[in-house]
Amino acid sequence: MASLKTEIGSIVLDKPGMIASGIMDETGKSLVRVLESGAGAAVTKSIGLEPKPGHDSPCFMEVSGGYVNAMGLPNPGIDLFREEMEIAVPKGKIIGSIYGAGPGDFSELAAKMEDYGACAVELNLSCPHAKGYGMEVGTDPEMVKSIVSAVKSSVSIPVWAKLTPNTHILTRIGQAVQDAGGDAIVAINTLKAMVISPEFARPIMSNKFCGLSGEAVKPVGVRAIYDLRSAVDIPLIGVGGISTWRDAAEYIMAGACAFQVGSAVGTKGMGVFSQINDGLSAFMDEYGYANIKDMVGAAHE
Ligand SMILES: Cc1cc2nc3c(=O)[nH]c(=O)nc-3n(C[C@H](O)[C@H](O)[C@H](O)COP(=O)(O)O)c2cc1C
Repeated sequence: MASLKTEIGSIVLDKPGMIASGIMDETGKSLVRVLESGAGAAVTKSIGLEPKPGHDSPCFMEVSGGYVNAMGLPNPGIDLFREEMEIAVPKGKIIGSIYGAGPGDFSELAAKMEDYGACAVELNLSCPHAKGYGMEVGTDPEMVKSIVSAVKSSVSIPVWAKLTPNTHILTRIGQAVQDAGGDAIVAINTLKAMVISPEFARPIMSNKFCGLSGEAVKPVGVRAIYDLRSAVDIPLIGVGGISTWRDAAEYIMAGACAFQVGSAVGTKGMGVFSQINDGLSAFMDEYGYANIKDMVGAAHE
């Protein structure tokens, strides 16, 4: 029977799926629930230095093909997050997602995540709706290089960089991550978007701009991983619109050695991880793939 075990550099996962940052991953208990539902690891909500309330409502709605959100990175701040990590870390592999305004913030946050027991840190260089953070720092290759270098010298756990699709220089940014010693790239975060109410003649979100996720973004994410595979040698993690084993297989064949699921937890519930695992195993058995490694990048050959 095919093995779903996969390696992201030095990190070995029994299953290739993880929860994506921002979905059911802000408390210790929800992280544990993810780990018990067939995910190989769980990524936390992106955490900053100080508590942040996020944007006012409306900040989330369903649209055709997915969701839009402009949560604005609500989180309790890194010091209070310690207690959630204490609950989750003994139960499995936790990747600490962090956001900051520059190298100093990211280094301080990463060191605390390492201290709390995270097995890797994921740098959110890609949120499209938080002023001064996310894609505002993650679309400048020089800034990306200095953030990744700074974090690399402040922790000994692997450093993953999560990139935005809202740029025409994705591969240059990917190379900047690799040049700075980054251990893996996660792609993609949400696509910058807007929804307008004709009745009110205004954008619906309180923040005006938001990020699109879910099924509609999958082809963009698959293309991003495909492009990155041709530009860098470090491991890639695919995210964006994955809700079935076929979606996961597309990302793996584009070049990802693991994947993350976000919006589909909203539409399908936590059972989505075991459904994907069962479907992937059956496909791999039928098509003669003994393990995930054999499938990684198959679409390039
Ligand atoms: C409600 C919501 C909150 C999110 N919060 C974060 C976050 O805090 N940090 C982050 O890096 N990505 C965040 N994301 C982006 C997801 O992690 C993921 O990259 C994106 O939704 C695409 O995957 P999906 O189509 O499977 O949802 C959020 C997405 C949603 C829908």
